[in-house]
Amino acid sequence: MKVLVIGTGGREHILAHKLKQSSLVNEIFAIPGNDAMSDIADVHCEIAETDHTQIVEFAVEHDISWVIIGPEQPLTEGLADKLNAKQIKVFGPNQAAAQIEGSKLFAKQLMQKYHIPTAEYKEISNKSDALSYIETCQYPIVLKKDGLAAGKGVIIAENYGEAEAAVHSLYLQELGTVVFEQFLEGEEFSLMTFVNGDYAVPFDCIAQDHKRAYDDDKGPNTGGMGAYCPVPHIDKEVLNLTNEVIAQPIAQAMYKEGYEFFGVLYIGVILTADGPKVIEFNARFGDPEAQVLLTRLESDLMQHILDLEAKKNIAFKWKDSSVVGVMLASKGYPGNYEKGKTVSGFDLNGNYFVSGLKRDRDKFVTNGGRVILALGEGHDIATAKANAYKAAEKIQSDGLFYRKDISNKAIKHL
Ligand code: AMP
Ligand code: GLY
Repeated sequence: MKVLVIGTGGREHILAHKLKQSSLVNEIFAIPGNDAMSDIADVHCEIAETDHTQIVEFAVEHDISWVIIGPEQPLTEGLADKLNAKQIKVFGPNQAAAQIEGSKLFAKQLMQKYHIPTAEYKEISNKSDALSYIETCQYPIVLKKDGLAAGKGVIIAENYGEAEAAVHSLYLQELGTVVFEQFLEGEEFSLMTFVNGDYAVPFDCIAQDHKRAYDDDKGPNTGGMGAYCPVPHIDKEVLNLTNEVIAQPIAQAMYKEGYEFFGVLYIGVILTADGPKVIEFNARFGDPEAQVLLTRLESDLMQHILDLEAKKNIAFKWKDSSVVGVMLASKGYPGNYEKGKTVSGFDLNGNYFVSGLKRDRDKFVTNGGRVILALGEGHDIATAKANAYKAAEKIQSDGLFYRKDISNKAIKHL
């Protein structure tokens, strides 16, 4: 069958790479894709991710069997609905169901209604009320702007001064919606769950991302600076409990409310002293969680998607190894950064997944904030980490930086 992947990043790069290993898939296309994927997919950078009309036309003309949508924006803008209208199958939810990621408020209200554990919250829809609220609230407090923000719309304020600055930056005018949320303490992990309506199958391997820009979880939030799996110090019991109190109930809740989710639901969890609580839902694979999880996944991703469609039993099979991924990002990210810096020293054989590079004649140059993920595998996390950093050190560029502590939380527990 022919499969089209939508998106430009490292997540889409591993999706294409993983589909290439499937005996069910004969041809892989990518829109817009990136230049590093051209060995495995027919890349169409000339079509924009936002150009739904052209994407639908392309899928019809090329007789595409399945479209896999990587990023959130096309999902929340209804690309799946437009493809479905032409009888093209899509792995990725329709616009209504994608609100679970697109609107923090939608997700919060659903969780409240169905008693799904999450941080307490308050929605404030004008700046003056927000300024009064922060005079009396408990600190730290978490401020989340409603709507998509690429992981950068969340501010954790430690005190009144920081909260005041956050209010001024999140409310661009007097009106606007910001969710004020109780700060949850505990370890964070990411659970990918395959969902088809009321049928939900979580991955029985979780991943841990590193959201802050700098070592020791310092600095601003980013899209993710590195990830690893499995997470040995968060055991099966926690995974089972998360399935029972979060994954199954949220799938049922959406179904009962008439939202037909089909795709992967990313559950961002904090393991608090009171058990697992949701910090966010995403309507897609995490990036860079996908790169480490799909590297570890031994079984056929396309077969799992077909089994999900048929609501059949899904038995994910994992390699015995651990996988660590270190993100190399443009200096300055998540703030301003320069593009066009030469990057060399990497291969495209499954050891690196490219987020923000483009070809410039005979070399690759940076083209985004997050640039390339260096992967390492090993029989345990410490070995995988050592291999990931060996791979990161091979990369030559004067425009990149990376965290040095990816997976240390697991290593600390060894
Ligand atoms: P989000 O976009 O909602 O995932 O938030 C980005 C990051 O902010 C999360 O991955 C957490 O590291 C942090 N965060 C968000 N909400 C909370 C919370 N209620 N308590 C503690 N940390 C949080
Ligand atoms: N790595 C976090 C995300 O994909 O949202």
